[in-house]
Amino acid sequence: MTEKKTWSDRFEGSLHPAIASFNASIHFDIELIEYDLTGSIAHASMLAKTGIISQEESNSLITGLEQIRQEYRQGNFNPGIEFEDVHFAVERRLTEIVGDVGKKLHTARSRNDQVGTDIRLYLRDQIDQIRELICQWQKALLSHAESHVETLIPGYTHLQRAQPISLAHHMLAYFQMAQRDWQRLGEIKARTNICPLGSGALAGTTFPIDRHYTAEKLEFAGVYENSLDGVSDRDFAIEFLNAASLIMVHLSRLSEEIILWASEEFKFVSLTDSCATGSSIMPQKKNPDVPELIRGKTGRVFGHLQGMLVLMKGLPLAYNKDLQEDKEAIFDGVKTVKACLEAMTILLDEGLEFRASRLNQTVGEDFSNATDVADYLAARGIPFREAYNLVGKVVKTSLAAGKLLKDLTLEEWKELHPAFESDIYDAIAPKQVVAARNSYGGTGFERVNQAIVAARESLNSQYP
Ligand code: ARG
Repeated sequence: MTEKKTWSDRFEGSLHPAIASFNASIHFDIELIEYDLTGSIAHASMLAKTGIISQEESNSLITGLEQIRQEYRQGNFNPGIEFEDVHFAVERRLTEIVGDVGKKLHTARSRNDQVGTDIRLYLRDQIDQIRELICQWQKALLSHAESHVETLIPGYTHLQRAQPISLAHHMLAYFQMAQRDWQRLGEIKARTNICPLGSGALAGTTFPIDRHYTAEKLEFAGVYENSLDGVSDRDFAIEFLNAASLIMVHLSRLSEEIILWASEEFKFVSLTDSCATGSSIMPQKKNPDVPELIRGKTGRVFGHLQGMLVLMKGLPLAYNKDLQEDKEAIFDGVKTVKACLEAMTILLDEGLEFRASRLNQTVGEDFSNATDVADYLAARGIPFREAYNLVGKVVKTSLAAGKLLKDLTLEEWKELHPAFESDIYDAIAPKQVVAARNSYGGTGFERVNQAIVAARESLNSQYP
């Protein structure tokens, strides 16, 4: 256990072993070590720049910190629970390496502003990586869109066949969701990228520090204006987990569709061997484990968002140890979203094939062209509601006769309404039904082709 106590000479005894381990965060906040070192290097450099310590002292602190970075990267720095957290572990190791000058590093700083700086540096990096993964996902969606402009798929409302649409249009709907995710993370990054360092424990410091200097060195866009807010704000974490939850909502909805599409009932896609798994007992099965896992993992990200909100709601200013609990939520949220984005991209790229001929055939075997019959009449001056009622009747009698609308003879059409001409057959053919919905944002092929060009352009500009 702790041979050496952590705290000032106010303390005589050492912590109860169970409490020491209860209190510790080193087993998860070691994840922050590179950011902690980077933050400490900027702090050490500021301490010399402002004359709080000498240049030589600062240089040896920085050399020592860089050595710890190398030790960590080579797998030779593995502090145990006795160090409580990553900040103490680094400071102790630093003092071993550079001697007593190591004890000067913490001048004009607290772990409270230090940990706040670390977690922001970490999240800022992760947001960049997640945005990159979103672009990859969008690329996969777009490439399906490009190959399936003229592949038709039933469009649903209430999970009832409504109107046929271009499969590309369906893919581009997810592209748009991903686009908002990408933008949203950009906005959140701006609010994450503010530096709390120099807020001290809560009230600032008696030393003549230069907060703008450290912030600039660490490439933050600004500094917290209020030290109490600086050490206790976790809005950015909540915003991030909210954005992460929305990404998961989008991934989960797509997953649910893929699961349905792969079923015997739909048969819209087949899963390739690279992303499907078998059953240990039923030899005929091919299971969509990947989208199921994505759908399943969505819950834990929602849970982290809820956890973070509850964590914050009762905290009096300023820092409270409760805040140590933010890290596992953030880390797991980050890891889960990254893993799911990656898995979905692979699934789209090589895990599924759309059964285009079956899709094109199936849209001709239902009544999802009924609106087009009503539109046909309305375009010829019959009030839409009247046309709508009339077509409802046609659907009913056709159903009873076991016929589809395309099976009605011209005489039958004319009997229903004299306005019908032989071009009704063209008007209700699935391809035409889709092509005709050429309103802005609609599924008409022309519109979809324009949307693909726009999506390609915006994706190209998204790449940093
Ligand atoms: N491990 C702590 C955390 O993650 C570091 C800050 C501790 N500050 C303190 N006053 N006990 O929040």
